[in-house]
Amino acid sequence: MSSSSPDERTLVLIKPDAVRRGLVGEILGRFERKGLRIDALVLRTMDGDFADQHYAEHVDKPFYPPLKAFMTGGPLAALVLSGDQVIEVVRGMIGSTDGRKAAAGTIRGDLSLSNRENLVHASDSVDSAKREIALWFPELG
Ligand code: PPS
Repeated sequence: MSSSSPDERTLVLIKPDAVRRGLVGEILGRFERKGLRIDALVLRTMDGDFADQHYAEHVDKPFYPPLKAFMTGGPLAALVLSGDQVIEVVRGMIGSTDGRKAAAGTIRGDLSLSNRENLVHASDSVDSAKREIALWFPELG
């Protein structure tokens, strides 16, 4: 019997600000150098209905209209990463929501000055990863 736990998966969006700023390679490179695997990757522009599904838990929050406008305003890269404890590892790598407060060394801490244009989304729990991967990549189900 192996003592290692099976690899998890998480859903990551490299947001439209990162695509616009030419930071996709920088961000993907950090995940690859960490040792995480890319199981799926697509460049896509979300429409409003899809954004409402992706952000179902936030649609009634006051910050949602500007978030929706930003996230549907241009192409983003959607990907599935896998690896040991990948959900927690990736959340640590991206840093806290507000780029002005995120720790140096994290993606947001190094590259963002905003809580909206903060470059990356990543699933925050096993349940949200399952839901978001099923939404973006039903073929992986
Ligand atoms: S919460 O309420 O604590 O769960 O929210 P949080 O995790 O901090 O943020 C959820 C997503 O909303 C984005 N966000 C904002 N967008 C626009 N304007 C404002 N003021 C704002 N505040 C938070 C934040 O970037 C999160 O996006 P994702 O894609 O989930 O990282």
